[in-house]
Amino acid sequence: MTVDAATIVARCDELAAVTATPGQITRVYLSPEHARVNTIVARWMQDAGMTTWQDDAGNLHGSVPGATDDAPVLLVGSHLDTVVDAGRYDGIVGVLMGIAAVARIRAEHGALPFGIQVIAFSDEEGTRFGKALLGSSAVAGVWDEAWWELTDAEGVSLRKAFTDFGLDPSRVGDAAVDPSRLVGYLEAHIEQGPYLEQADQALGVVTSIASARRFTVEAVGEARHAGGTPYERRHDALLAAAEAALAVERICRASQHVGTVGTMTVEPGAVNVVPGLAHFSVDLRGEFDEGRDRVWDEITKAFALIGERRGVSVEPTEVHRAPAVFCAPRLMDAVRAGIVATGSPAPMELFSRAGHDAMSLGLVTDVAMLFLRNPDGISHHPDEFVSEADIALGLDALVTAITTLAAEPS
Ligand code: GLV
Ligand code: MN
Ligand code: MN
Repeated sequence: MTVDAATIVARCDELAAVTATPGQITRVYLSPEHARVNTIVARWMQDAGMTTWQDDAGNLHGSVPGATDDAPVLLVGSHLDTVVDAGRYDGIVGVLMGIAAVARIRAEHGALPFGIQVIAFSDEEGTRFGKALLGSSAVAGVWDEAWWELTDAEGVSLRKAFTDFGLDPSRVGDAAVDPSRLVGYLEAHIEQGPYLEQADQALGVVTSIASARRFTVEAVGEARHAGGTPYERRHDALLAAAEAALAVERICRASQHVGTVGTMTVEPGAVNVVPGLAHFSVDLRGEFDEGRDRVWDEITKAFALIGERRGVSVEPTEVHRAPAVFCAPRLMDAVRAGIVATGSPAPMELFSRAGHDAMSLGLVTDVAMLFLRNPDGISHHPDEFVSEADIALGLDALVTAITTLAAEPS
Protein backbone atom coordinates (compact mmCIF):
# COMPACT_ATOMS: atom_id res chain seq x y z
CA MET A 1 0.00 0.00 0.00
CA THR A 2 1.42 3.41 -0.93
CA VAL A 3 1.08 6.32 1.47
CA ASP A 4 0.81 9.83 0.05
CA ALA A 5 1.11 13.23 1.72
CA ALA A 6 -2.67 13.52 2.18
CA THR A 7 -2.61 10.22 4.09
CA ILE A 8 0.27 11.48 6.24
CA VAL A 9 -1.74 14.61 7.13
CA ALA A 10 -4.81 12.50 7.93
CA ARG A 11 -2.68 10.25 10.14
CA CYS A 12 -1.24 13.25 12.00
CA ASP A 13 -4.85 14.28 12.66
CA GLU A 14 -5.72 10.79 13.88
CA LEU A 15 -2.78 10.67 16.29
CA ALA A 16 -3.61 14.19 17.54
CA ALA A 17 -6.79 12.70 19.03
CA VAL A 18 -4.71 10.43 21.27
CA THR A 19 -4.15 12.79 24.18
CA ALA A 20 -4.25 12.86 27.96
CA THR A 21 -6.07 16.21 27.86
CA PRO A 22 -9.15 16.53 25.65
CA GLY A 23 -8.96 19.68 23.52
CA GLN A 24 -5.16 19.70 23.65
CA ILE A 25 -2.44 17.34 22.44
CA THR A 26 -0.39 16.00 25.34
CA ARG A 27 1.18 12.57 25.06
CA VAL A 28 4.03 11.71 27.39
CA TYR A 29 6.41 8.80 27.87
CA LEU A 30 5.06 5.54 29.31
CA SER A 31 1.46 6.81 29.44
CA PRO A 32 -1.69 5.05 28.20
CA GLU A 33 -1.56 7.43 25.19
CA HIS A 34 1.98 6.27 24.40
CA ALA A 35 0.72 2.66 24.30
CA ARG A 36 -2.23 3.63 22.08
CA VAL A 37 -0.17 5.45 19.44
CA ASN A 38 2.31 2.57 19.34
CA THR A 39 -0.58 0.21 18.54
CA ILE A 40 -1.98 2.49 15.82
CA VAL A 41 1.38 3.23 14.18
CA ALA A 42 2.42 -0.46 14.31
CA ARG A 43 -0.61 -1.22 12.15
CA TRP A 44 0.47 1.42 9.60
CA MET A 45 3.99 -0.02 9.61
CA GLN A 46 2.57 -3.48 8.98
CA ASP A 47 0.39 -2.14 6.14
CA ALA A 48 3.64 -0.85 4.59
CA GLY A 49 5.08 -4.37 4.69
CA MET A 50 7.16 -4.01 7.86
CA THR A 51 7.77 -6.42 10.69
CA THR A 52 7.08 -4.54 13.94
CA TRP A 53 8.06 -4.74 17.60
CA GLN A 54 8.19 -2.57 20.69
CA ASP A 55 11.64 -2.50 22.28
CA ASP A 56 12.58 -2.62 25.96
CA ALA A 57 12.32 1.17 26.33
CA GLY A 58 8.88 1.45 24.68
CA ASN A 59 10.10 2.60 21.25
CA LEU A 60 8.20 1.18 18.27
CA HIS A 61 10.20 -0.31 15.39
CA GLY A 62 9.21 -1.48 11.91
CA SER A 63 11.67 -3.03 9.52
CA VAL A 64 12.01 -4.33 6.00
CA PRO A 65 14.98 -6.53 5.12
CA GLY A 66 17.75 -5.70 2.70
CA ALA A 67 18.59 -7.74 -0.39
CA THR A 68 20.90 -10.12 1.50
CA ASP A 69 20.73 -11.81 4.90
CA ASP A 70 23.76 -9.93 6.21
CA ALA A 71 22.72 -6.54 4.78
CA PRO A 72 23.37 -3.56 7.06
CA VAL A 73 20.50 -1.41 8.26
CA LEU A 74 19.55 2.22 7.66
CA LEU A 75 17.60 3.71 10.57
CA VAL A 76 14.92 6.30 9.79
CA GLY A 77 12.89 7.86 12.55
CA SER A 78 11.56 10.56 14.81
CA HIS A 79 9.27 10.64 17.86
CA LEU A 80 5.59 10.21 18.81
CA ASP A 81 5.65 11.90 22.25
CA THR A 82 4.72 15.56 22.64
CA VAL A 83 5.14 18.59 24.84
CA VAL A 84 2.16 19.82 26.86
CA ASP A 85 -0.52 21.37 24.58
CA ALA A 86 1.54 20.50 21.50
CA GLY A 87 1.15 20.79 17.77
CA ARG A 88 0.42 17.71 15.70
CA TYR A 89 3.54 17.49 13.51
CA ASP A 90 6.66 17.80 15.73
CA GLY A 91 8.24 14.34 15.49
CA ILE A 92 5.10 12.66 14.26
CA VAL A 93 5.41 13.76 10.64
CA GLY A 94 8.97 12.36 10.49
CA VAL A 95 7.84 8.93 11.68
CA LEU A 96 4.96 8.87 9.20
CA MET A 97 7.21 10.03 6.35
CA GLY A 98 9.60 7.18 7.20
CA ILE A 99 6.78 4.68 6.91
CA ALA A 100 5.59 6.25 3.63
CA ALA A 101 9.15 6.19 2.25
CA VAL A 102 9.46 2.46 3.01
CA ALA A 103 6.11 1.75 1.34
CA ARG A 104 7.16 3.66 -1.79
CA ILE A 105 10.64 2.13 -1.93
CA ARG A 106 9.25 -1.41 -1.59
CA ALA A 107 6.79 -0.78 -4.42
CA GLU A 108 9.18 1.00 -6.77
CA HIS A 109 12.64 -0.40 -5.97
CA GLY A 110 12.19 -3.71 -4.11
CA ALA A 111 14.86 -4.67 -1.57
CA LEU A 112 17.85 -2.32 -1.25
CA PRO A 113 21.44 -3.27 -0.36
CA PHE A 114 20.49 -2.36 3.21
CA GLY A 115 17.42 -3.05 5.32
CA ILE A 116 15.39 -0.08 6.54
CA GLN A 117 14.25 0.19 10.15
CA VAL A 118 11.79 2.94 10.99
CA ILE A 119 11.82 3.90 14.67
CA ALA A 120 9.03 5.80 16.40
CA PHE A 121 10.87 7.06 19.48
CA SER A 122 8.87 7.13 22.68
CA ASP A 123 10.47 10.07 24.49
CA GLU A 124 12.23 12.90 22.75
CA GLU A 125 10.70 15.87 24.55
CA GLY A 126 11.42 14.89 28.16
CA THR A 127 7.99 16.28 29.09
CA ARG A 128 7.35 13.75 31.85
CA PHE A 129 10.75 13.25 33.51
CA GLY A 130 12.65 16.43 32.51
CA LYS A 131 15.39 14.40 30.86
CA ALA A 132 14.91 14.48 27.08
CA LEU A 133 15.81 11.78 24.52
CA LEU A 134 15.15 8.82 26.82
CA GLY A 135 13.82 6.63 23.98
CA SER A 136 16.68 7.28 21.58
CA SER A 137 19.27 7.07 24.39
CA ALA A 138 18.13 3.47 24.98
CA VAL A 139 18.43 2.70 21.25
CA ALA A 140 21.88 4.30 21.12
CA GLY A 141 22.91 2.21 24.15
CA VAL A 142 23.82 5.25 26.25
CA TRP A 143 21.35 4.71 29.11
CA ASP A 144 22.48 6.13 32.44
CA GLU A 145 21.49 4.14 35.56
CA ALA A 146 21.04 7.45 37.47
CA TRP A 147 17.96 8.18 35.34
CA TRP A 148 15.92 5.49 37.10
CA GLU A 149 15.45 7.79 40.06
CA LEU A 150 14.07 10.70 37.99
CA THR A 151 10.49 11.43 39.00
CA ASP A 152 7.49 12.95 37.26
CA ALA A 153 5.23 15.69 38.67
CA GLU A 154 3.32 13.06 40.68
CA GLY A 155 6.51 11.66 42.22
CA VAL A 156 6.42 8.47 40.09
CA SER A 157 9.96 7.30 39.36
CA LEU A 158 11.10 6.36 35.88
CA ARG A 159 11.72 2.84 37.22
CA LYS A 160 8.12 2.52 38.43
CA ALA A 161 6.75 4.03 35.21
CA PHE A 162 8.64 1.36 33.24
CA THR A 163 7.12 -1.41 35.33
CA ASP A 164 3.62 0.11 35.18
CA PHE A 165 3.93 0.24 31.38
CA GLY A 166 4.84 -3.47 31.32
CA LEU A 167 8.56 -2.97 30.68
CA ASP A 168 11.36 -4.60 32.66
CA PRO A 169 13.93 -1.97 33.74
CA SER A 170 16.66 -4.59 33.93
CA ARG A 171 16.28 -5.22 30.19
CA VAL A 172 16.61 -1.63 28.93
CA GLY A 173 20.06 -2.49 27.56
CA ASP A 174 18.36 -4.87 25.09
CA ALA A 175 16.86 -1.84 23.29
CA ALA A 176 20.33 -0.87 22.05
CA VAL A 177 21.11 -1.36 18.37
CA ASP A 178 24.45 -2.79 17.23
CA PRO A 179 26.24 0.23 15.66
CA SER A 180 28.46 -2.04 13.55
CA ARG A 181 25.37 -3.08 11.54
CA LEU A 182 24.23 0.47 10.74
CA VAL A 183 24.44 2.53 7.56
CA GLY A 184 23.40 5.56 9.63
CA TYR A 185 20.29 7.41 10.77
CA LEU A 186 18.05 9.79 8.79
CA GLU A 187 15.38 11.99 10.34
CA ALA A 188 12.80 14.25 8.67
CA HIS A 189 11.37 16.95 10.95
CA ILE A 190 9.60 20.30 10.78
CA GLU A 191 12.09 23.13 11.21
CA GLN A 192 10.54 24.63 14.39
CA GLY A 193 11.90 28.00 13.31
CA PRO A 194 11.36 30.61 10.57
CA TYR A 195 14.48 30.31 8.41
CA LEU A 196 13.25 28.09 5.55
CA GLU A 197 10.12 30.18 5.22
CA GLN A 198 12.16 33.40 5.19
CA ALA A 199 14.32 31.95 2.40
CA ASP A 200 11.23 30.74 0.48
CA GLN A 201 12.49 27.14 0.62
CA ALA A 202 10.28 24.13 1.33
CA LEU A 203 13.14 21.88 2.46
CA GLY A 204 16.58 22.21 4.01
CA VAL A 205 19.66 20.18 4.93
CA VAL A 206 20.61 20.24 8.62
CA THR A 207 24.32 20.76 9.30
CA SER A 208 24.35 20.28 13.10
CA ILE A 209 22.07 20.14 16.11
CA ALA A 210 22.39 22.47 19.09
CA SER A 211 24.11 21.42 22.25
CA ALA A 212 21.70 21.39 25.20
CA ARG A 213 21.53 21.19 28.98
CA ARG A 214 18.50 21.26 31.27
CA PHE A 215 18.28 21.89 34.99
CA THR A 216 15.75 21.98 37.77
CA VAL A 217 16.48 24.69 40.31
CA GLU A 218 15.32 24.86 43.90
CA ALA A 219 15.20 28.25 45.63
CA VAL A 220 14.76 27.93 49.39
CA GLY A 221 13.87 31.06 51.32
CA GLU A 222 11.49 31.49 54.23
CA ALA A 223 7.69 31.59 54.27
CA ARG A 224 6.40 34.41 56.47
CA HIS A 225 3.41 36.66 56.99
CA ALA A 226 2.81 38.93 53.98
CA GLY A 227 1.63 41.81 56.15
CA GLY A 228 3.78 41.52 59.23
CA THR A 229 7.19 40.88 57.64
CA PRO A 230 9.13 44.01 56.66
CA TYR A 231 11.19 43.80 53.46
CA GLU A 232 14.49 43.66 55.28
CA ARG A 233 13.32 40.48 57.12
CA ARG A 234 12.16 38.67 53.98
CA HIS A 235 13.81 35.78 52.13
CA ASP A 236 11.40 35.62 49.20
CA ALA A 237 12.04 32.51 47.11
CA LEU A 238 9.82 33.67 44.23
CA LEU A 239 11.63 36.98 43.86
CA ALA A 240 14.99 35.16 43.87
CA ALA A 241 13.65 32.78 41.17
CA ALA A 242 12.27 35.69 39.14
CA GLU A 243 15.61 37.49 39.27
CA ALA A 244 17.36 34.26 38.34
CA ALA A 245 15.08 33.88 35.29
CA LEU A 246 15.95 37.42 34.17
CA ALA A 247 19.66 36.64 34.64
CA VAL A 248 19.29 33.60 32.35
CA GLU A 249 17.82 35.84 29.65
CA ARG A 250 20.42 38.59 30.07
CA ILE A 251 23.41 36.25 29.97
CA CYS A 252 22.11 34.15 27.07
CA ARG A 253 21.16 37.18 24.96
CA ALA A 254 24.61 38.66 25.40
CA SER A 255 26.30 35.46 24.23
CA GLN A 256 24.17 34.25 21.28
CA HIS A 257 22.71 31.38 23.29
CA VAL A 258 19.10 30.67 24.17
CA GLY A 259 17.98 30.00 27.73
CA THR A 260 14.40 29.44 28.84
CA VAL A 261 12.75 29.21 32.22
CA GLY A 262 9.68 27.23 31.18
CA THR A 263 8.29 26.11 34.53
CA MET A 264 8.02 27.76 37.93
CA THR A 265 6.09 26.67 41.01
CA VAL A 266 5.88 28.43 44.34
CA GLU A 267 5.13 27.19 47.84
CA PRO A 268 3.20 27.49 49.98
CA GLY A 269 1.32 29.34 47.21
CA ALA A 270 -0.95 31.55 49.30
CA VAL A 271 -1.94 35.16 48.65
CA ASN A 272 -0.87 36.34 52.11
CA VAL A 273 2.37 34.37 52.57
CA VAL A 274 5.84 35.41 51.38
CA PRO A 275 6.92 32.50 49.13
CA GLY A 276 9.32 30.22 50.99
CA LEU A 277 10.12 27.81 48.19
CA ALA A 278 10.29 28.02 44.39
CA HIS A 279 11.17 25.42 41.80
CA PHE A 280 11.96 26.34 38.22
CA SER A 281 13.51 24.81 35.12
CA VAL A 282 16.29 26.08 32.88
CA ASP A 283 16.72 24.91 29.29
CA LEU A 284 19.98 26.10 27.70
CA ARG A 285 21.06 25.70 24.04
CA GLY A 286 24.03 26.76 22.02
CA GLU A 287 25.84 25.77 18.87
CA PHE A 288 28.90 24.35 20.66
CA ASP A 289 29.36 22.50 23.96
CA GLU A 290 32.19 24.78 25.18
CA GLY A 291 30.14 27.97 24.74
CA ARG A 292 27.10 26.38 26.38
CA ASP A 293 29.16 25.34 29.40
CA ARG A 294 30.82 28.74 29.70
CA VAL A 295 27.40 30.41 29.69
CA TRP A 296 26.11 27.99 32.32
CA ASP A 297 29.06 28.81 34.58
CA GLU A 298 28.17 32.48 34.27
CA ILE A 299 24.52 31.74 35.06
CA THR A 300 25.38 29.75 38.20
CA LYS A 301 27.57 32.62 39.42
CA ALA A 302 24.64 35.01 38.90
CA PHE A 303 22.33 32.61 40.78
CA ALA A 304 24.77 32.51 43.72
CA LEU A 305 24.95 36.32 43.89
CA ILE A 306 21.15 36.68 43.75
CA GLY A 307 20.79 34.04 46.46
CA GLU A 308 23.39 35.68 48.69
CA ARG A 309 21.77 39.10 48.40
CA ARG A 310 18.30 37.75 49.23
CA GLY A 311 19.26 35.12 51.79
CA VAL A 312 17.80 32.42 49.59
CA SER A 313 19.69 29.31 48.54
CA VAL A 314 19.46 28.77 44.76
CA GLU A 315 20.58 25.22 43.88
CA PRO A 316 20.50 23.80 40.35
CA THR A 317 20.45 20.08 39.55
CA GLU A 318 21.26 18.95 36.03
CA VAL A 319 18.63 16.64 34.48
CA HIS A 320 19.70 16.55 30.84
CA ARG A 321 22.88 17.07 28.85
CA ALA A 322 23.31 16.42 25.14
CA PRO A 323 26.37 17.40 23.13
CA ALA A 324 26.11 19.23 19.82
CA VAL A 325 25.91 16.74 16.98
CA PHE A 326 27.36 17.38 13.54
CA CYS A 327 25.69 15.72 10.58
CA ALA A 328 27.74 13.34 8.44
CA PRO A 329 28.77 14.78 5.04
CA ARG A 330 27.99 11.48 3.27
CA LEU A 331 24.41 11.45 4.55
CA MET A 332 24.00 15.22 4.10
CA ASP A 333 24.97 14.74 0.44
CA ALA A 334 22.19 12.16 0.06
CA VAL A 335 19.65 14.53 1.67
CA ARG A 336 20.89 17.33 -0.59
CA ALA A 337 20.48 15.08 -3.65
CA GLY A 338 16.95 14.31 -2.49
CA ILE A 339 16.07 18.02 -2.27
CA VAL A 340 17.71 18.82 -5.62
CA ALA A 341 15.60 16.07 -7.23
CA THR A 342 12.46 17.93 -6.08
CA GLY A 343 13.48 20.83 -8.33
CA SER A 344 15.31 22.99 -5.80
CA PRO A 345 18.84 23.34 -7.24
CA ALA A 346 20.58 24.98 -4.26
CA PRO A 347 19.22 23.50 -1.00
CA MET A 348 19.50 25.68 2.06
CA GLU A 349 21.72 24.43 4.88
CA LEU A 350 20.80 25.24 8.45
CA PHE A 351 21.77 24.56 12.04
CA SER A 352 19.03 23.05 14.23
CA ARG A 353 18.35 25.07 17.34
CA ALA A 354 15.85 22.43 18.48
CA GLY A 355 16.82 19.03 19.87
CA HIS A 356 16.15 15.80 17.98
CA ASP A 357 16.47 12.04 18.36
CA ALA A 358 19.37 12.30 15.89
CA MET A 359 21.40 13.72 18.81
CA SER A 360 21.39 10.33 20.56
CA LEU A 361 21.95 8.31 17.41
CA GLY A 362 24.77 10.69 16.50
CA LEU A 363 26.72 9.30 19.48
CA VAL A 364 26.99 5.90 17.79
CA THR A 365 26.44 6.30 14.03
CA ASP A 366 26.37 8.83 11.19
CA VAL A 367 23.25 11.00 11.17
CA ALA A 368 21.58 13.55 8.89
CA MET A 369 18.31 15.45 8.92
CA LEU A 370 15.87 16.84 6.37
CA PHE A 371 13.95 19.91 7.56
CA LEU A 372 10.48 20.87 6.32
CA ARG A 373 9.26 24.48 6.20
CA ASN A 374 7.25 25.44 9.29
CA PRO A 375 5.05 28.49 8.59
CA ASP A 376 5.75 31.37 11.01
CA GLY A 377 8.30 29.06 12.68
CA ILE A 378 5.72 28.21 15.30
CA SER A 379 6.14 24.90 17.13
CA HIS A 380 5.45 23.46 20.59
CA HIS A 381 2.10 25.19 20.11
CA PRO A 382 -1.28 24.02 18.75
CA ASP A 383 -0.89 26.30 15.68
CA GLU A 384 2.20 24.37 14.52
CA PHE A 385 1.81 23.61 10.80
CA VAL A 386 3.43 22.07 7.76
CA SER A 387 1.62 22.02 4.43
CA GLU A 388 0.57 18.88 2.60
CA ALA A 389 2.50 20.16 -0.45
CA ASP A 390 5.71 20.45 1.59
CA ILE A 391 5.19 16.99 3.07
CA ALA A 392 4.83 15.66 -0.50
CA LEU A 393 8.12 17.32 -1.50
CA GLY A 394 9.78 16.12 1.71
CA LEU A 395 8.65 12.56 1.07
CA ASP A 396 10.04 12.68 -2.49
CA ALA A 397 13.34 14.02 -1.09
CA LEU A 398 13.51 11.37 1.63
CA VAL A 399 12.88 8.55 -0.86
CA THR A 400 15.57 9.91 -3.19
CA ALA A 401 18.01 10.37 -0.29
CA ILE A 402 17.56 6.71 0.67
CA THR A 403 17.85 5.39 -2.89
CA THR A 404 20.91 7.65 -3.44
CA LEU A 405 22.57 5.95 -0.46
CA ALA A 406 21.54 2.57 -1.85
CA ALA A 407 23.30 3.37 -5.14
CA GLU A 408 26.61 4.17 -3.40
CA PRO A 409 29.30 1.51 -3.38
CA SER A 410 29.16 -0.26 -0.01
C1 GLV B 1 12.53 19.31 21.48
O1 GLV B 1 11.67 19.65 20.68
C2 GLV B 1 13.40 20.28 22.06
O2 GLV B 1 14.23 20.85 21.31
O3 GLV B 1 13.21 20.60 23.22
MN1 MN C 1 10.73 16.97 17.75
MN1 MN D 1 9.54 19.09 20.26
